Amino acid sequence: MITTVTLNAAVDVTYVVDRIQHGGSHRIASVRRRAGGKGINVARVLAALGHSTTVTGLVGGTAGEAVRRDLAGAGLADALVPITGETRHTVTVVEEEADDASVFLEAGPPVTAGEWAEFKAVYGRLLRRSRAVVLSGSLPPGLPEDTYAELVTLARQQNVPAVVDTTGNALLASLDASPAVVKPNRSELCETLGTEDAQAGAHRLRRAGAEAVVVSLGADGMLALTPDGELIAEPPRRMTGNPTGAGDAAVAALSAGLALGTSWPERLREAVALSAAAVSAPLAGDFDDPTYRELLAQARAVPLASAP
Ligand SMILES: Nc1ncnc2c1ncn2[C@@H]1O[C@H](COP(=O)(O)OP(=O)(O)OP(=O)(O)O)[C@@H](O)[C@H]1O
Ligand SMILES: [Mg+2]
Repeated sequence: MITTVTLNAAVDVTYVVDRIQHGGSHRIASVRRRAGGKGINVARVLAALGHSTTVTGLVGGTAGEAVRRDLAGAGLADALVPITGETRHTVTVVEEEADDASVFLEAGPPVTAGEWAEFKAVYGRLLRRSRAVVLSGSLPPGLPEDTYAELVTLARQQNVPAVVDTTGNALLASLDASPAVVKPNRSELCETLGTEDAQAGAHRLRRAGAEAVVVSLGADGMLALTPDGELIAEPPRRMTGNPTGAGDAAVAALSAGLALGTSWPERLREAVALSAAAVSAPLAGDFDDPTYRELLAQARAVPLASAP
């Protein structure tokens, strides 16, 4: 089983408009609401691929109930821990004409010490049955920056490899615990480190403790520094659609690769094919299966030194 952790779960609201007019009113012809937060997106992708997966994290209030109903409807195993605060909403506005999307993120509810202790008890029990764990997204207010470091350490104690997908100080602090993989996107990496050189930034994360660093580069694919060498994987073709959630699909592929013990080139091939297929599906957490299979047959990961 692969456990995904979403400490700051959300009800994701997606509006589709032709184009955003700043200062204007927009009639929304199409709206979708569903359980979100990065770990939940990862779990959806894993479940669609046929992997056994369990969702944990923190949820509260009526939005929290909506998250749980949605997970049940999607057939996802729910080990979420209840909190008194109200789960947040996030809003994605997809502009069809511009082929672009804008995202609005609430900070999320605070977490008490008692709720955190309860979460860790649930997490520890899940680790006993897990072959990999995914720690994704922002931390809710009130949890310290080394929260993911603590969760990576607990996973290591049970020999469970962890993938960390976050940014800023939460990412930096996680490195102390030597996560198996960290997966920032290019702007998260560069902003976190104050650099413009993604490759140099990736090396810094690796030196600071990550066993492997995968930097996702949007339509340019991904760069990986791994125990088996430095690799680059490009998508076989550039997709149009909704790129929100493409990184989560990449994390799903990387965590499945860890759980199955596949080679690094194979993990990256899976990650570029799956994340490109996620761009062509309108909702974060979905991917287009025929596109995935077609792209997987073409996707390659090559040593960085030999890349053109
Ligand atoms: N337009 C595209 N065409 C093909 N593949 C793409 C495209 N955009 C993204 N991808 C694939 O998706 C991966 C993840 O994309 P990106 O770097 O945008 O992740 P992210 O910003 O972390 O996304 P998320 O919204 O899930 O956090 C890329 O490494 C690439 O392989
Ligand atoms: Mg991301």
